Amino acid sequence: MSDFSALRERLKKQCDEIIAQYEQPRSALLPLVHLFQQSEGYASPEALRAVAEMLDLSQAVVESTVSFYTLFYRKPVGKYMLQVCRGLACTLNGAEDIMAYFREQLGISHLQTTADGLFSYEEVECLAACDRATCMQVNLNFVYDLTSQMIDDMLAAMRAGKYAVPPLAQTRAPERSWTERQDFEVSTGGKSAGAQDQPDPNNPGGLDRDGIIMLDRILSDEARFKGRTNERLANVEPALAQVIEE
Ligand code: FES
Repeated sequence: MSDFSALRERLKKQCDEIIAQYEQPRSALLPLVHLFQQSEGYASPEALRAVAEMLDLSQAVVESTVSFYTLFYRKPVGKYMLQVCRGLACTLNGAEDIMAYFREQLGISHLQTTADGLFSYEEVECLAACDRATCMQVNLNFVYDLTSQMIDDMLAAMRAGKYAVPPLAQTRAPERSWTERQDFEVSTGGKSAGAQDQPDPNNPGGLDRDGIIMLDRILSDEARFKGRTNERLANVEPALAQVIEE
């Protein structure tokens, strides 16, 4: 019996109990993937296939649902998955400095894992804890009101094996970096109209185009709005700097 078959057998009772809690079996999709992720350290392709089978769903439905959430790690990751929020409230409260500090202390960047397999680092969209910005998740546990001192203490405790949040299971060695393939790499012209020009999730952290426009709307009065926004956009995506002019 393969390792995954043995795991599936071992989790069968728990899976059945989860499915029984819902009127529609498909509602158990996320809890089931979460259960497998807890056991394997990531949402493996085998786990996604097993969940599709259990719920009588297509693989595409499971993949597309799971890929929406940064709660699920679709590649093997480090024992500590550090996900720092780069949403608007966190950015206004200093997330760019926090992210820069993490990158400096870890020696890795967005969507990368340290050589020893201990840390993976990702910059994610709003974690819905805006009142405690700047914030992050460590193996999905929230950490609020981040400071550089907190980051120092946290990383030291993790390295010493004394951090309050336990490490993830690591059933497969993580690669040094991972990126999700973009629509234009998978097919041409397949992106829906609403998804055109959306920020690239593989970009390193910082404000994207939409964040810049929103930030300037909050911080600036109408007279200063266009100039400030175009100046910022020109630094990020020069081709889009005309957006506000039109
Ligand atoms: S912007 Fe960071 S939690 Fe909402």
